[in-house]
Amino acid sequence: MRTAAIGLLGRCCLVVIVGVGMSALGRAQGNGIAHTPPMGWNSWNHFACKVTENDVRAAADAIASNGMKDAGYVYVNIDDCWQGKRDEKGIIHPNSKFGDMKALADYVHGKGLKLGIYSSPGPKTCAGYEGTYRHEEQDAETYAAWGIDYLKYDWCSASQVYKLSEEPAVYKKMHEALVKTGRPIVYSLCQYGMDRVWAWGASVGGNLWRTTGDISDDYDRMAFIGFGQDGLERFAGPGHWNDPDMLEVGNGHMKPNEYRTHMSLWCLLAAPLLSGNDLSKMTPETLAILTNPEVIAVDQDPAGIQGRRVAEEGPLEVWMKPLSDGSKAVGLFNRGESTMPVTAYFQDIGVGENATVRDLWARKDLGTFRGTFTAQVPVRGVVLVKIK
Ligand code: GLA
Repeated sequence: MRTAAIGLLGRCCLVVIVGVGMSALGRAQGNGIAHTPPMGWNSWNHFACKVTENDVRAAADAIASNGMKDAGYVYVNIDDCWQGKRDEKGIIHPNSKFGDMKALADYVHGKGLKLGIYSSPGPKTCAGYEGTYRHEEQDAETYAAWGIDYLKYDWCSASQVYKLSEEPAVYKKMHEALVKTGRPIVYSLCQYGMDRVWAWGASVGGNLWRTTGDISDDYDRMAFIGFGQDGLERFAGPGHWNDPDMLEVGNGHMKPNEYRTHMSLWCLLAAPLLSGNDLSKMTPETLAILTNPEVIAVDQDPAGIQGRRVAEEGPLEVWMKPLSDGSKAVGLFNRGESTMPVTAYFQDIGVGENATVRDLWARKDLGTFRGTFTAQVPVRGVVLVKIK
């Protein structure tokens, strides 16, 4: 079951994926990093423009001490609103909410983590701060001198100075500037999935590219984005990932069940896992959703194959991601409004007649099943299993 028409760009327009030409799968990636989907934290979903250096330090402290680092979270990413003014030489400086960026990077590195930053190819960022337009090499050098390890490059006001057709060249220019610094910097393209970025994102040096407009802490928005990713799997692979946007887990407007659906879907999609909550104040339940090792192993599987929908019946969906050990991660989703049984047919997911099933959230073997596996799935919930 792989229909081709999917609405992906909630915020601006409906994209219809027609014949998919060039495949990014297997294409050697320029900078040799992000072999598995990047994991970390980003300031935007919770702090938005209020983010301060202290929030970033607190996030690093939390990751290093609460089990997230052991679970694989590495990048501590500052999103929009850190920028101050350029000096007379054109060098960008942070605003008054941030101090010495090199000292901040040293602090984050001292915890065994990496620091990320954000800019726009346009004159202004989406929140109206200073962008990188006409300062590409200079900003790349500044970031490298600070010790930055990740750049999210957000189109925003670039639409005022470039034509849409110039996008690949504009993104390539910054990729080349980053490469020239000699520092490995994960390159995250953010242009909301315009112009089928998945077909060219890897060729301009992107390690990941947003496939949609912005997520919000809302079940319908999360589900619209997550379940809308089917069909893009051929474009993802080690070093170059589709990015359905950052996690909202723990931000408070979804139920634990819905956050487990969010996390399961993102892991089946081999999506970057950038937590977007206040890590200094999370509940044990939120931390457990973010750090279940068996669920994260699905996302971080070294084969780097993005999962896809294999069956759909009304509000019930089955998604499957092939894993490097030959087993399959399978999500049984119930998008309906009452608990319902969801069945995975072994034929659909490509396993033999008899297979063992392990529940990944419960971390429990469920036994051997013949031909099918059925689970009662709660409202807007998921049962995530490994079938072998
Ligand atoms: C855009 C991006 C978001 C965030 C904001 C910051 O909306 O898609 O992820 O970076 O800009 O202004």
